[in-house]
This record gives sequence, C-alpha cells and structure tokens, in this order.
Amino acid sequence: MLQRQPTVHLDKSLLIARGGVRDVYQHPHHDDRCIKIVHNPKRLRSVKRETRYLLRYERQGKPFERLTRFHGWCKTTLGSGGVFDLIRDHDGRCAQTLLSHVGGQVDPGLSPGEIVEQLTALYHHLLEHEIIVSDPALHNLVVHYPLPGRPRLVIIDGVGNSNFIKIADYRKHCAHQLIKKKWRRYIEVSPLLVEVFQATGYNPLA
Ligand SMILES: Nc1ncnc2c1ncn2[C@@H]1O[C@H](COP(=O)(O)OP(=O)(O)OP(=O)(O)O)[C@@H](O)[C@H]1O
Ligand SMILES: [Mg+2]
Repeated sequence: MLQRQPTVHLDKSLLIARGGVRDVYQHPHHDDRCIKIVHNPKRLRSVKRETRYLLRYERQGKPFERLTRFHGWCKTTLGSGGVFDLIRDHDGRCAQTLLSHVGGQVDPGLSPGEIVEQLTALYHHLLEHEIIVSDPALHNLVVHYPLPGRPRLVIIDGVGNSNFIKIADYRKHCAHQLIKKKWRRYIEVSPLLVEVFQATGYNPLA
C-alpha cells in the first residue's frame, strides 16, 4: 500500500516545528494536514502507539474535537511520514502550543484565568470520553482558535496508554485513575504552571 503511493516531496521550507522525536511538515497537497517524520528512532514505539490509539478512538466513535486524526503513513523524500490533521486557527495560522502561551511568546496570549479554564475543560473532556494521554505536557497541547475569541485546547501528541498492562483501556474506573495520574504529573505539579495557579488562586492539589 505504502509502496504504490507517489512519493511526497518535502523540503525545509515546509517545516513547521521540530519536536524531540519528530519533524513536523506542512503537507504539500493538503492545507489542513501535516506530515510527521521521526528523527529519533529510539522513540518509534511511542509514535506507533499514538497512531494505534488514534485509529482505535476513531473506530470507537470518540469525539475528535480535541484530538488530531491520523490519516496513515506516506512515503516522502525524507523517509516515511505519518499524516495527521494540522491544527489551524480561523485566520489560517498554525495553532500555538500552550507552552508558548504560558511563556508569553504569543500576543495576545491566554490570561492565567483562561489557561485554568481551558485546562479544566480539557481535563473533564478526557475523563468523560475516557481518552488516555501518556504525556499531556504543555508542549503537546495547542491552543486552537476555530473562531476568534473562542479558544480550545487540542492534544497534538502523546495519545494512548503507555502502561504494560492495558486494563485502563477496558475499565472506566482504571481509565479515570490513569488520566488523573498523568494530569497530576504533567499539569498539576508542573513548575511551569505555578505562577498561573498562584495568579488565579487556583489550587489544583486541594
Ligand atoms: N497537528 C498539529 N497541528 C499544529 N501544530 C502541530 C501539530 N503537531 C505538531 N505540531 C507542532 O510541532 C511540534 C512538535 O510536534 P510533536 O509534539 O508531534 O513532535 P514530537 O517530536 O513527537 O514531540 P515530543 O518532543 O513531545 O516528543 C509541536 O510542539 C507543535 O508546535
Ligand atoms: Mg510533542
């Protein structure tokens, strides 16, 4: 299947961002898709896990308003790439990570109150739909503006259950425990969010 598709030509002008594992390129034929190429093969396992879970969640009919769909693998001039939805705002610009908003690199960025509001909404969404994320860190969440003034957090990386024993995939109670554990580790005790939580008087550990 992969072999029969024409090779997609990628070059540096299409590069959107570089993560610790993958380079993310604009898909040259689809404005609303990106191609992710692994540059750190040691982490290939987590990449494959993510694609498996995205396909599984899609099959199960889970909502994708806070996830990116996986459209399969393609052959590119830079090697094999995974094709995903690219999160673009209403004005066509790529959505910025929550890390950039918290770090003050986006103008206008979300206020501390909005950050807490958006994180709370995402957390309840994950629990409600039993969506498991292995590392919901600030650089794996983007602030999507489908409409002006209407932000929504979208998870662009790390979907799936990384536990060896997959009981959380089948038991709601275990899914909730795992989601809460990850949330605490990556959000509630994140040093990057201390000031945000202080500014809003929000105490995540209360
Ligand atoms: N679907 C997307 N829509 C918009 N921007 C994206 C998307 N996917 C990735 N990005 C941008 O590319 C960066 C790197 O992507 P991604 O997190 O998938 O790479 P990674 O190497 O797997 O990450 P990590 O360093 O967390 O392992 C993100 O932080 C984000 O800025
Ligand atoms: Mg990432």
